[in-house]
Amino acid sequence: MSTRKTAIITGATGVIGKAIARQMAEKNFRVFVVARNEDKARQTVQNIKSATGNPEVDYLLIDASRKSSISEAAAKWQGPLDVLINNAAATPRRREETPEGIEMQFATNVLGYFWMTEYFTPFLKMSAAPRIVNVASYWAGDLNIDDLECKNQQYNNNNIYRQSKQANRMLSVAFAEKLKNDGISVNAVHPGEVNSRLSNNLGFGGHESPDLGADTPVWAATAIELEGVSGKYFEYRRETICRFGKDKMLVEKLFEICQRY
Ligand SMILES: NC(=O)c1ccc[n+]([C@@H]2O[C@H](COP(=O)([O-])OP(=O)(O)OC[C@H]3O[C@@H](n4cnc5c(N)ncnc54)[C@H](OP(=O)(O)O)[C@@H]3O)[C@@H](O)[C@H]2O)c1
Repeated sequence: MSTRKTAIITGATGVIGKAIARQMAEKNFRVFVVARNEDKARQTVQNIKSATGNPEVDYLLIDASRKSSISEAAAKWQGPLDVLINNAAATPRRREETPEGIEMQFATNVLGYFWMTEYFTPFLKMSAAPRIVNVASYWAGDLNIDDLECKNQQYNNNNIYRQSKQANRMLSVAFAEKLKNDGISVNAVHPGEVNSRLSNNLGFGGHESPDLGADTPVWAATAIELEGVSGKYFEYRRETICRFGKDKMLVEKLFEICQRY
């Protein structure tokens, strides 16, 4: 039985996720790297172990765009979970669908966070002061509640991405409210601008380091001063007013739509 606190990080084979996972291992967490590609997962785990000397780093194979994959992983999970960091996201240049027929960005960036939260909540409830951190973005907006899967408009990966990141921020507020009686705090963060496949697909570079990108997510997951703080949005460790969480009816509508998938 480990004495370390346990953290799960999705998208941990990506640029920011890798840095988040390594920083959590440096903070002496037992770290589970979530990945869909086993070779990348093994390599990431090995690199983090060698860089940090923390032997309790492992991986979970999950396709974050598929509910069945998340529920299967949760069914095998045992024991308390202290931190869940939802970070996996995709920005395909052309419209793609999952095998279930769900548009890929909505499935991965929005429903992936939603399902990870739902399926791992029972384990978060077993922890003393559990936290969920949703890696969102300042680059967010224009959510079309009637066309979340981009069925009735020309696909533009940037527009759908901004919509998905608005949804992350809205659903963080929704989950913060719904999970408050379980003592689970839920916050959203902007990580920073980091050069990655995701940002390149959107036509951006990124001038900030992966470690800076990981800094706010890790701070939100661990800072003592954030104990009991929930439903907030942070950029560079600073609370930033988020207008997306304020329209409670729209937040609830989005939550209900996600529940139906
Ligand atoms: N980069 C920026 O400037 C920036 C700015 C604001 C917010 N963000 C946010 O930061 C987070 C991380 O982005 P990043 O820049 O680090 O991107 P990235 O390097 O492209 O990493 C994305 C990660 O998500 C994983 N992923 C994608 N689809 C998946 C699926 N279906 N199942 C499991 N894993 C999946 C990828 O796995 P594979 O390795 O298998 O592809 C990869 O590990 C995202 O939530 C993004 O919205 C980034």
